[in-house]
Amino acid sequence: MDEAVLKIGDREISLPVIVGTEGEVAIDTNKLRGQTGIVTHDKGFANTAEALSSVTFLDGEKGILRYRGYPIEQIADSASFLEVSYLCLYGELPTSAQYEEFVDDINHHTLVREDMKHLYEAFPTDAHPMQMLASAVSALATFYPDALDPTDEKAIDISAKRLIAKMITLVAWGYKYGLSQPFQYPRNDLDYTSNFLHMMFSYPTEGYQVDPVISKALDVLLNLHADHEQNCSTSTVRMVGSSQANLFSSVASGIHALSGPLHGGANQQVVVMLDEIIKGGGDVEQFIAKAKDKDDPFRLMGFGHRVYKNFDPRARIIKSYAGDVLDKLGKDDPMLDVAKQLEEVALSDEYFAERKLYPNVDFYSGIIYKAMGFPVDLFTVLFAIGRLPGWIAQWKEMRFDPTTRIGRPRQIYVGEAERKFISMDQR
Ligand code: CMC
Repeated sequence: MDEAVLKIGDREISLPVIVGTEGEVAIDTNKLRGQTGIVTHDKGFANTAEALSSVTFLDGEKGILRYRGYPIEQIADSASFLEVSYLCLYGELPTSAQYEEFVDDINHHTLVREDMKHLYEAFPTDAHPMQMLASAVSALATFYPDALDPTDEKAIDISAKRLIAKMITLVAWGYKYGLSQPFQYPRNDLDYTSNFLHMMFSYPTEGYQVDPVISKALDVLLNLHADHEQNCSTSTVRMVGSSQANLFSSVASGIHALSGPLHGGANQQVVVMLDEIIKGGGDVEQFIAKAKDKDDPFRLMGFGHRVYKNFDPRARIIKSYAGDVLDKLGKDDPMLDVAKQLEEVALSDEYFAERKLYPNVDFYSGIIYKAMGFPVDLFTVLFAIGRLPGWIAQWKEMRFDPTTRIGRPRQIYVGEAERKFISMDQR
């Protein structure tokens, strides 16, 4: 199978076929418009492979997710988040020497310039952490004008490390600002997640012991979010970068894309929804009925996925982890029981079965974040920390692909045909 034949009217055109490593087949339409003047129409890009990518493989029918060939089930618990970040960025698991150097480089960059504090002071104290983070990441570019050249491999590498290192400081500063508490500086003797927890939850006046259960669980959760091929935020990062915008601006755009409730914002909405169910007396069926009602815009948050049509392997890992973490932390959250009940009822309902709607990564993650002490409006920001290595890896892949062209979709115009201008006094 090396070509496809397209028949339009009485014309027949043959188009090349591309086959991926795992047998995925695509019809290559790159020359379609040039040869025929015809374009394809594909709402939400549901049938369009924009990239030939080597970062992540995902099979939604079989529930498979692999980073650079490594199954998520093997990697989530066994590697640290910086190890997974290295894998995403450079394509291979690091040797211990490479890992040590990478961790050292990241630690070296965790500090954020003091001037950045003024940026936070410009926000209202109740600003949403995702908006603050996107602005802060965007602002980072102004501090490193000599490292913005999108064709300079060395500059990109240092920008990537700066981003991964400073992301946790920026998130923690946004949180502290919202509480009117002093910003905490990074402590580079701590590992990445512990350093983040320290900046989030410590005070200058009191010591703070990072709980190893929390830091390990956070590492696992970040690993589960590290990349997810061409999702909305990653496609945004690639699209913005295709204009040769710098890495900081591209990632800031990705953060905005992630903030929406249909994407990363869902993890916050799940907890809001579970809370509503509990406050309303625990009537799970009522919410299922609402989600099925076509006259009601409500959707069961944390359910459904564009690609997964069987199960989301990340959700399976998180579900089993949620009980463990709550037990280890000695917390008993009725939300976990309500979530399990909701899942059970939904999975046995014809509406959800017919549409192949299963719990996604966001369904159980919020319950763990909550048990760890994170406020609800910070959940999506945690998703952003996790997704960062994927955004950078995909941006680099796009940037160094010699076939990359600026992202510029076509359209089919369906508005008014040409008409004559009428001056205002005659309208
Ligand atoms: N609750 C109720 N109905 C749903 C849901 C839901 N959560 N998700 C999809 N449907 C229905 C939808 O109404 C449609 O029904 P019909 O065929 O009768 O019109 C059908 O299922 C297909 O839905 P779709 O909107 O065409 O599917 P999509 O691939 O465009 O959207 C989605 C995928 C994730 C945006 C959607 O399932 C959704 O809105 N889920 C809730 C939000 C959520 O949990 N988002 C997190 C996604 S996973 C993490 C991430 O990548 O960000």
